[in-house]
Amino acid sequence: MIITRRAFLGASALGILSLALGLPYQVLGAADADQVLQVYKTPWCGCCAAWVAHMRAAGFTVKVEEREDLAPLKVQHGISADLQSCHTAIIDGYAIEGHVPAVEVKRLLAERPQAMGLAVPGMPVGSPGMEQGDIRDPYNVILFAKNSRKVFARY
Ligand code: CU
Ligand code: CU
Repeated sequence: MIITRRAFLGASALGILSLALGLPYQVLGAADADQVLQVYKTPWCGCCAAWVAHMRAAGFTVKVEEREDLAPLKVQHGISADLQSCHTAIIDGYAIEGHVPAVEVKRLLAERPQAMGLAVPGMPVGSPGMEQGDIRDPYNVILFAKNSRKVFARY
């Protein structure tokens, strides 16, 4: 009984502290790892780095890992061929595929829909990290789940 009580107190200490300070739990560090944008890119692609710069400028904490083969990662996160782009990122359990605007990732994390993630398939010119002067290809940000697709935003 005493051990159970100690374990309970230990586990809830952060929660009590966060209540006392009036801060959300994750501000105290409990969920920090989930809020990092973990980016996987190949070593030879420059537009991925430009997208990383866009996400950092928008306030995201970004960690980058270079891998020569991203295919297994894409399969693991349900990113089928029609959704694929040059880089894959993971944040808070969601996959972010390609040149998704930072504002849409923030909306995703705020709304937390039932989905596997967001994708901007291909490499549309004018998307973040793919700027070429004034040229803008129209593109959609797709919210995808195992068996469904939905347009999350249009650009
Ligand atoms: Cu790219
Ligand atoms: Cu790239």
